[in-house]
Amino acid sequence: MLRFPPNFLWGAATSAYQIEGAWNEDGKGESIWDRFVRWPDHVLNGDSGDVACDHYHRMENDVALMGELGLPCYSFTISWPRVLPRGRGALNPKGLDFYDRLVDALLARGIQPKATLYHWDLPQTLQEHGGWPNRDLTNFFADYARIVFDKLADRVKLWATFNEPWVAAFLGYGHGIHAPGICNAQAAYQSAHHMLLAHAKAVQVFRQGNYPGEIGLILNLNHLLPASDRPEDIAATERVYAETHRIFLDPLIHGRYPEDFYTWLGAHAPQRAADDLALIHRTVDYLGINHYNTDTVAYDIFGGWLKARLTPYAAPGWGFTTMGWGINPYGLHAELRDLKIRYGNPKLYITENGCALPDQPDESGFVADHKRIAFLRAHLQQTHAAIQDGVDVQGYFVWSLFDNFEWERGYSQRFGLVRVDFQTQRRIPKQSALWFREVIRCNGLPPDDRPPPPNRPPD
Ligand code: FCB
Repeated sequence: MLRFPPNFLWGAATSAYQIEGAWNEDGKGESIWDRFVRWPDHVLNGDSGDVACDHYHRMENDVALMGELGLPCYSFTISWPRVLPRGRGALNPKGLDFYDRLVDALLARGIQPKATLYHWDLPQTLQEHGGWPNRDLTNFFADYARIVFDKLADRVKLWATFNEPWVAAFLGYGHGIHAPGICNAQAAYQSAHHMLLAHAKAVQVFRQGNYPGEIGLILNLNHLLPASDRPEDIAATERVYAETHRIFLDPLIHGRYPEDFYTWLGAHAPQRAADDLALIHRTVDYLGINHYNTDTVAYDIFGGWLKARLTPYAAPGWGFTTMGWGINPYGLHAELRDLKIRYGNPKLYITENGCALPDQPDESGFVADHKRIAFLRAHLQQTHAAIQDGVDVQGYFVWSLFDNFEWERGYSQRFGLVRVDFQTQRRIPKQSALWFREVIRCNGLPPDDRPPPPNRPPD
């Protein structure tokens, strides 16, 4: 049996827009996602997060369920327009009160709250102000952060500013797949820089305010492999690595921009003010890593501004999830080891890991999701191996606690430990939820009762 270090933090994660619903209730303002889902053909099947898991109305029961599942920590995100309907100015007390009650409900059950300030649901009024390409938003974000810290930081000790700024900037402003649906490479790089700066300003507020606890940034760091050892494929891989990793990590940790990459980008590179770098450097107490998959990268003259083509890679015997993502547990180990080498072994939490699968409920709604268990088990084995290598991983969170609204793919993807019947809003823990409860109880991996996939070494 593999045991994790004492005090290793176990949890599960969700995000506001993906579960809360109540999109226009109790004074909440409109977000860019509330707007985007109403554009025809932008979300599969015309789905929206209007109701989602109806968590806003079912919060108390949902927290009770987390207690039954033995979760030591719950990672949730705060909807900016629920707190500040217009992004700044007048506060919506009922919105802030929802998170206040959530935190109290969690603590009453002995569950540690972990809060993230931004998971993509920008107030629509701030998009009308120019959105993330506008530098003003860095100050608005810091003001919003202060309001939330003042209300919750006496009880929440684990904070993140942004979840996946790469996705918010590049899928939102570069590729137009996410809200606000803009396709402009320079706007995407500018947004990414402003999110990093907004992160730094919020951390400055946190530190100057002497709030207790730790604050970090969550990045989506999937693993990349060159499609071949041809120099052009290796160079293309390095460009994708620069866009997804270095534009954030180099300034945060090394105190420098990836100037070689920005030079290569030319006119698409972001504009930066003289003092930005000093403000950004050393602003993470920990780094959150969301990890799902591995891609191979080939040079391709038609491969967008990076001249790169990504192809999902699955380790032999593992196959693909319903997202089309390749399953490669060894990629997690390699990714963690690379981060240690390149960035001086920062303190890490795996803040999201999980898989969408074609769950088949029985008549009672129960899902015997053995493949999800195999996925999670294998990724935990690789996490454990990285810890043995000296990587400073302090915790692991499953994405997601619930089946929920999976952005442009609507409700077609099921990532949950808990099945949600979206007709009745019934919650039914899957086999994986029961398995994960055991993992938490043992602080390790219980003996496997399933045959290992073909390429997997025995425990
Ligand atoms: C991550 C997001 C999360 C969810 C998972 C599948 O990129 O942070 O909201 O969509 O992917």
